[in-house]
Amino acid sequence: MKGEPVKVGLLGLGTVGSGLVRLLERNRAEYARRLGREIIVTHAYTRDASRQRDCNLAGVTLVKDPMAIAREAPVDVVVELLGGISPARELISAAIARGKPVVTGNKALLAADGDRLFAAAREKGVGIAFEASVAGGIPIIRVLREGLAGNRIESLAGIINGTCNYILTQMTQHQVDFATALAEAQALGYAEADPGFDVDGNDAGHKLAILASLAFGIPLSGGGVLLAGIRGVTARDIQLAGELGYRVKALAIAKLSGGRVELRVQPTLVPVEHLLAKVDGVLNAVIVKGDAVGETGYYGRGAGGDATASAVVADLLEIAREIGSGAKFRAQPLGFDPAAVRTAAIVPPAEIESAHYVCLRVADTPGVLKGITSILAELEISIEAILQKEPKGKEDATVAIITSVVTQARFDAALAKLLALPFVRPGSTHLGVEHFNGK
Ligand code: HSE
Repeated sequence: MKGEPVKVGLLGLGTVGSGLVRLLERNRAEYARRLGREIIVTHAYTRDASRQRDCNLAGVTLVKDPMAIAREAPVDVVVELLGGISPARELISAAIARGKPVVTGNKALLAADGDRLFAAAREKGVGIAFEASVAGGIPIIRVLREGLAGNRIESLAGIINGTCNYILTQMTQHQVDFATALAEAQALGYAEADPGFDVDGNDAGHKLAILASLAFGIPLSGGGVLLAGIRGVTARDIQLAGELGYRVKALAIAKLSGGRVELRVQPTLVPVEHLLAKVDGVLNAVIVKGDAVGETGYYGRGAGGDATASAVVADLLEIAREIGSGAKFRAQPLGFDPAAVRTAAIVPPAEIESAHYVCLRVADTPGVLKGITSILAELEISIEAILQKEPKGKEDATVAIITSVVTQARFDAALAKLLALPFVRPGSTHLGVEHFNGK
């Protein structure tokens, strides 16, 4: 019962696009066995058709205008792997407008404009699949949308930016500073020449918006993410965190709190015995807690051509089955009816409650601890752990503190007062802390 091949129009022949072409060729017979029909790339957009690529493009019509593929190429599905907002948005919109399902890995676009794109796709009765948009090869979208659909999701926490995880791992294992680790990541091709998108937390923020939307039924464009990057993390923080029993990880966290959802992306101290503390290098991992299943964990390659192509093929197989079955689509892209979106459910960043780590550089003078503890006591912030280091050579003394769980606003007020103390020197730092015990 072999049907007509599923014809793919591919927008983007970069790392993931060429990985996809290779994977579709390598496992062609297996996909045909699973699906009952072949999946073939018939059209691909490339600006430079003469460029050598590490994939076989024999039989693929190369097109210089991506809009020609979106609007009129005789394909069954359009795969968008260009990234960025424009022209990806216009291309996806054009494909949807003529009733073609779309597969995309474009987290920036989905976070910015996903609500509108999903609404347009729904109107047209076509699917948008986006497994490749978060955590590369880890099928976390399907986990939330289908695998754990029987649960109320209580929280999720993940390492979802491999570049940040690589940099923090290097800083931890080799006691180097941020700039050195970043330069290494760039030399190895893990970080872009302009690394801001990764190290300032934007990429993880987009991915978190997508995960939270799936998990909690909130709009993609709801905002409200407390966002901090890893540029300010010092080798000293990593060392002190280690002495206090923690690893520093760039975490993205979404959790239900009093019926609302809190969202944060920040460098965070994770207890050394927790699973996420052991996820090193460029790898990604996500822990999801459901009310029925409890904690579950997902781990693997979050980027790279082959791993991300794995996610794209999963989407293609799903869409091909839907085309074959005549169904419009089996599940809503986000796993819920858009009419059921909750709009006012996000905790404002200032009200987010968590523990904090603060490392103060201080002059070696009497009264330092008294000054610090008085401010914390005045604001009813309890000290869970404290570590003081004597000055070394020309370096100041340091006092590292882990606070109790307090609102961000209260912590910010305390921090401002601490930094204004006469004996506190420039170069103090602060990070989040996550204990994974419900708060
Ligand atoms: N730049 C991302 C990362 C991969 O470092 O994880 C693509 O989302």
